[in-house]
Amino acid sequence: MNILAIESSCDETSMSIIKDGHTDLGTVILSQIDIHKMYGGVVPEIASRSHVESITIVLEEVLTKASMKIDDIDAIAVTYGPGLIGSLLVGLIAAKTIAYIYNKPLIPVHHIAGHIYANNLVNRLEFPLIALVISGGHTELIYMKEDYSFEKIGGTLDDAVGECYDKVARVMDLSYPGGPSIDKLAKQGNDTYKLPLPLNDSSYDFSFSGLKSAVINLVHNEEQRGNKIKKEDLACSFQNRVVDILTKKTVKALKEYDVKNLIVAGGVAANSAIRNSLENACKQHGISFTVPPILYCTDNAAMIGAAGYFAYKKGIRADLNLNAQANCNLEDLL
Ligand code: KG4
Ligand code: ZN
Repeated sequence: MNILAIESSCDETSMSIIKDGHTDLGTVILSQIDIHKMYGGVVPEIASRSHVESITIVLEEVLTKASMKIDDIDAIAVTYGPGLIGSLLVGLIAAKTIAYIYNKPLIPVHHIAGHIYANNLVNRLEFPLIALVISGGHTELIYMKEDYSFEKIGGTLDDAVGECYDKVARVMDLSYPGGPSIDKLAKQGNDTYKLPLPLNDSSYDFSFSGLKSAVINLVHNEEQRGNKIKKEDLACSFQNRVVDILTKKTVKALKEYDVKNLIVAGGVAANSAIRNSLENACKQHGISFTVPPILYCTDNAAMIGAAGYFAYKKGIRADLNLNAQANCNLEDLL
């Protein structure tokens, strides 16, 4: 089954053709990072206009890349939420139009289900599993007992981990997006700054605003005293706290839920220290570990095509009334 997948929830216009939920026949990702960089973050109105300009070009390109025609496509999968409403609408209207004109089934996909199923493009998911979803908008631990069944066991009470990376990078005058900048810098530094381990309790919830504020206060205090920050050491100290808390809570979940597989998903899953720490923890506990290649960690349509296949097998379909949702719960499947 060939699924044409469309993702436009934030600042990437992306389309993919995915076969049977696991094989990428062609992916196009048009990133707007260079446009938003000068504002230090994504500007929603600019993002939606940019999607409008790109969407038909991306469609033509993905068909060419996969050497296919629309007739070779069996269904259309699209991200309906969560995300920026204006951005989501562009991909959604494209998907509905193609589904209507060519009479193809339309499959609604939750963006986070997409991030999770990016792992199915690497290895077939083994159940039961725990998924750690870490992105610019999400920090969640999800238990899956079978395909397309999602139970959230914990999540962030305030900032998402990627958001925290981006804000800390901004106060340190690093380039946007902050995650890759801090990741790179941390490798050159030492853990010398005293920072708190956030929400170090027995729950599966996370909180990153305290850690973010601690870094911001530290930078301001040092500035006022006329002291220079050692950026690589601060990046290393900050990242170590993030790695420690993510690893600690994830390992607790792996043991308690007695799972076979840990998968990591979302833009922050591109982080080298987080990947290494979780991989080592899995080795120690005899649990298989999967993380997508970097290309499939940040937003892309391949993951939506992979998730769309399993949604389709579960009987999930949408009609032309499907609407975009800026906020929606992964557990409330359409
Ligand atoms: O999944 P994603 O592309 O968009 C959302 O759905 O949010 O994630 C983007 C986030 C940004 O906050 C970015 O700073 C972070 O992923 N990120 C990283 C790394 N690469 C991207 N964070 C830490 N280390 C990285 N190497
Ligand atoms: Zn995402």
